[in-house]
Amino acid sequence: MTDASYRFTHAITRRPAASITRGLRAVDTGSPDLAVMQAHHADYIAALRSTGATVVELPPLDNYPDSVFVEDTALCLPQGAVIMRPGAPSRLGEAAEMAPHLAALYADIRPITGAGSYIEGGDILVTETEILVGRSARTNAVGIAEMTSLVAPWGHKVREVMTPPGVLHFKTDCSLLDGDTILSTERLAASGCFRDYRVIHTAPGEEAAANSIRFNDLVLVPAGFPATRDRITAAGFGVREIGNSECAKLDGGMSCLSLRFSPPAR
Ligand code: GLY
Repeated sequence: MTDASYRFTHAITRRPAASITRGLRAVDTGSPDLAVMQAHHADYIAALRSTGATVVELPPLDNYPDSVFVEDTALCLPQGAVIMRPGAPSRLGEAAEMAPHLAALYADIRPITGAGSYIEGGDILVTETEILVGRSARTNAVGIAEMTSLVAPWGHKVREVMTPPGVLHFKTDCSLLDGDTILSTERLAASGCFRDYRVIHTAPGEEAAANSIRFNDLVLVPAGFPATRDRITAAGFGVREIGNSECAKLDGGMSCLSLRFSPPAR
């Protein structure tokens, strides 16, 4: 088994814009504080860099309030990148903003183009053996089928699964910790979608900790979920807690804030 699904040479991030106060949210729990979000974002980037990776910081895009959540714009694989087609109308243009930055690193860029295709990176979990894609309010079956046809020539197998009702993205509820270990909420794991993996459950009441990321030797976990943090630590992983209070107001977590990948040598 390789480790390409959690060891990366590169990440791309985008600084939050002042328009972040207009970001999408399922429930309004208050306006995000830009200064606090910027401080958390800087901590996040420092943690990624501390693992030795190259981290690109793109400038804010005020026309796109949710553009700090770059993960939704692309799927980056060792062979090439697929440019997504976000299902949120206000986010559709974010993918084209990301494409040139990936084209600078990848020779093979494949966009989702179907007018009826919708798919966001937050619904995609890449493991060592397969790519799981959750159907959600943002990702439809047509989008998954189009993505499947684009990555099949690269040798990737896609499995369509279901994001739990009322949950923004599939990865709102799960993260890859290593080649065979998944951190998952109990509600998602109960669907059976991880039956071939070892599963660590988030602690009761700490479901929001599920949106963590394994990045090289670190697991970045949103701060404020000590029981889940301790479960991950007890399983032998190195944990770094990152403040996420402001992104959480917009249903965002650790995975949403970066594209993580190792582009082929050119
Ligand atoms: N606020 C993140 C999203 O709804 O896509």
